[in-house]
Amino acid sequence: MGAVAQALLPWFEKNRRLLPFRQEPSAYHIWVSEIMLQQTRVAAALPYYERFVAELPDPAALAACPPDRLRKLWQGLGYYSRAANMQKAARIVCEQYGGVLPASREALRALPGIGDYTAGAIASIAFGIPAPAVDGNVLRVFARLFDDDADITRPAVRRLFTRRVMEQMPPDAPGPYNEALMELGALVCLPAAPRCDACPLAALCRGRASGRAAALPCKPPKKEKTRLPVTVALVESPAGLLLQRRPAGGLLANLWQPPAFEGRTLTRDQLDGELARLGIRVDWEAALPAARHVFTHRIWELGGWRGRAAAAAALPDGYAWARGEELAEQYPVPSAFDAYLPQAGHRE
Ligand code: ADE
Repeated sequence: MGAVAQALLPWFEKNRRLLPFRQEPSAYHIWVSEIMLQQTRVAAALPYYERFVAELPDPAALAACPPDRLRKLWQGLGYYSRAANMQKAARIVCEQYGGVLPASREALRALPGIGDYTAGAIASIAFGIPAPAVDGNVLRVFARLFDDDADITRPAVRRLFTRRVMEQMPPDAPGPYNEALMELGALVCLPAAPRCDACPLAALCRGRASGRAAALPCKPPKKEKTRLPVTVALVESPAGLLLQRRPAGGLLANLWQPPAFEGRTLTRDQLDGELARLGIRVDWEAALPAARHVFTHRIWELGGWRGRAAAAAALPDGYAWARGEELAEQYPVPSAFDAYLPQAGHRE
């Protein structure tokens, strides 16, 4: 066994967190957890994970889940296309593999939403296949271990790092090795302040020896995000809160929201005009407080108005009135609107 694995595996055995997907490491459980953990910290993802696998315990259940319910289970995690891709993949798994995830990195990689990282994680952790699973944590650990300041956003650099990861992989423990590297990145080899005194690889780490560990890995500066105004009409009637369904493609596809105008700052009069087209007349009560929501590539700067509509009008397709409990259980609303829906209680 290489020196890295020799130091790392006993450390992992002693320090690994007892996470639910580690206690029941089926390929399906690993898959769900890895998709969630790509976008969210472990502590934040756990309640979502528990609820998701309790309600959808296997690929067949995921394949059959009504899409709005699936989006509801995902609500708050963001990147909703990942849930939609998981469902597509689950349907293929049911049609082509009898409802069981295939024990092959290539076959996993061919499923929608499963890239190199996720395929490698499932293959190694669930099936013991010697495949790399190189995420941001692992890139950071290896940049420091080799004191390498190459730009880790470049594909050629990732390939080189992946080769180094594989050179150290013990053939009989690929899963624990991959997970130990991720765990080291999450608990010890921290981005800003590495805890070198607690690191099992400290004696092997060239970045620590050179004093540059904390400054690695090297990434080019992030691009400035586009800022967009969003005007929101928060309208209550005795039938509940007015919602509109977002378009079927693009950002937050198919989710529900209070009527919102992206990229536009509307006056109250202009909002009146927009709502009149739905057959709704609103008595405005107050301006909404300014709020911000940061996406991967853009920032929403939200504002708008809160008001009441006297009676529930018959609404066009794609609009609905939602009472508190319907809002909480039935309609997936993106967390970008959390500032305006504290009463919804939709983060269970
Ligand atoms: N981050 C992503 N996947 C992980 C895993 N399996 N263990 C620890 N951290 C992770």
